Amino acid sequence: MSDENPVPPHVADQSCEHQPALRVVPLPADTNPAGDVFGGWIMSMVDIAGSIAARRRARSRVATVAVNSFIFKQPVSVGDLVSFYAEVVTVGNSSVTVDVKVYVERNPENAVAIKVTEARLTYVALDHHGNKRLIPADM
Ligand SMILES: CC(C)(COP(=O)(O)OP(=O)(O)OC[C@H]1O[C@@H](n2cnc3c(N)ncnc32)[C@H](O)[C@@H]1OP(=O)(O)O)[C@@H](O)C(=O)NCCC(=O)NCCS
Repeated sequence: MSDENPVPPHVADQSCEHQPALRVVPLPADTNPAGDVFGGWIMSMVDIAGSIAARRRARSRVATVAVNSFIFKQPVSVGDLVSFYAEVVTVGNSSVTVDVKVYVERNPENAVAIKVTEARLTYVALDHHGNKRLIPADM
């Protein structure tokens, strides 16, 4: 998807291989003093969305080991419908790297999806004791 997607997101979702890992509407409590949504709120949602894809692939709990890149391309506003799309891009011995792309729908009457953030994060698979573990082969 490009930065601006004229296809209404509910239609784009059906033609897309994966559904968003997460969809959230930010509230006034999530804003910075300028009134835009606080970057830390977006980062935490991106981390959660990425971890959902990573734990599914790892088939275990995971811990975030690195935020490799994080780009805020557009501000997010209170009331935007924010969708987080997560895709596994590489799998190592114990690590899973995930790309997360974030889109907002601003106007329900003209549902255009605008890309606001993109990030790449690496997670490490953990066993029940919190030690890193090997990731099983893809099935
Ligand atoms: C995650 C953790 C268990 C890894 O333990 P470790 O013994 O240091 O692990 P390693 O150095 O062997 O690295 C494990 C994997 O992560 C990868 N990795 C480590 N640092 C990385 C980095 N900066 N960027 C990308 N990948 C990284 C390694 O390449 C390795 O991948 P592979 O097994 O697929 O080859 C440990 O670092 C930890 O507990 N960190 C804290 C996690 C945490 O609390 N996260 C939440 C922060 S808010």
